[in-house]
Amino acid sequence: MTAANSMHTDETRRTFLHHACLIAAGGIATAASTINPAPACAAPNNKKTLSGKTAFVTGAARGIGRAICEKFAAYGADVAMLDIADPAKLHSTAGYSVSTMREFDEAVAAVKVHGTRVAKFQADVRNLSALEEAARQTAGQLGGIDIVVANAGYVAWHSFEDGTPLQWRDVIDVNILGVFYTAKATIPYLKKRGGGRIINLASVGGRAAFAGNGAYTSTKWAVVGMTKQAALELGKYRIAVNAIAPGAVNTPMYRSEGQRRSMGVNTSQEQDMIIDPLSPLGSAGAIDPEDVADAALFLVGDAAKTISATIVDVALGYNASYTA
Ligand SMILES: NC(=O)c1ccc[n+]([C@@H]2O[C@H](COP(=O)([O-])OP(=O)(O)OC[C@H]3O[C@@H](n4cnc5c(N)ncnc54)[C@H](O)[C@@H]3O)[C@@H](O)[C@H]2O)c1
Repeated sequence: MTAANSMHTDETRRTFLHHACLIAAGGIATAASTINPAPACAAPNNKKTLSGKTAFVTGAARGIGRAICEKFAAYGADVAMLDIADPAKLHSTAGYSVSTMREFDEAVAAVKVHGTRVAKFQADVRNLSALEEAARQTAGQLGGIDIVVANAGYVAWHSFEDGTPLQWRDVIDVNILGVFYTAKATIPYLKKRGGGRIINLASVGGRAAFAGNGAYTSTKWAVVGMTKQAALELGKYRIAVNAIAPGAVNTPMYRSEGQRRSMGVNTSQEQDMIIDPLSPLGSAGAIDPEDVADAALFLVGDAAKTISATIVDVALGYNASYTA
């Protein structure tokens, strides 16, 4: 990290990205959200490569899920957005909670800006019936499902020894069963259309272990295994299954008090001082949700038609230290 860059606050960095997007998009300003302020760059009109496709995305109310929805809509896809959107429905872990309905409404509005159709579902990925109903309604309202992103995730920070059965249960239920249920509910529709794509959100925590991450590490390794098994079995239906394993991403999860406590720091700047020296691409602080969305866009596009069972590390090269 250069000295100049190290002085950038999160806010100045987001403002820079916001302006970069606006310049690339031809200069039409949209309101910035305080939750996820940098809008996805609009796709050029001749690049609506996802026109006619429908994407089903969980954990869509904010962070990476929201960025993926915005990106896919910018490239012409109709989008079904699903989120629990109620902190009371999942035991809060110290220093982090799931999204609110207000965040969800803001995300839906941001996706609608792109002019494609949007369906919104408040549902819990731990509930298979709710996911099946959301998938049924998505197919009814938007014509089918071509792309599935199992992005909803949850974390409780504690030492291995001190983890409670409830903490382990919550994280396993969301991060493992939730990913499986998302696939199970949507596979029938992917089979109908043919050529479907599933993306699961793994993590750097699914490639290596990090002290203090509790059950999260185990569940994200499980996502990697599930991705490979599903890819083996679903290939015969021309369904590709891949995962994205991000490093530290600028979202409410990574920028939470719980995450900072587990790293032994108090501020985002201190987080960046720990992460930056680990990144060969250096000096960026945390990755932005839009960068993860770019990887997702690649994985659902024609350019990735031969790629399945692959884990794409979006980690500024830090993955050189922990993956083959
Ligand atoms: N932020 C990072 O640094 C990072 C790094 C690697 C992987 N990830 C993974 O990326 C994914 C997205 O995380 P994020 O950083 O955007 O976090 P986030 O907290 O901003 O978003 C997570 C979203 O998932 C939703 N969600 C949680 N439990 C749910 C449930 N049971 N049912 C439906 N929705 C639920 C939340 O309400 C929230 O909107 C997660 O799977 C996370 O583990 C994040």
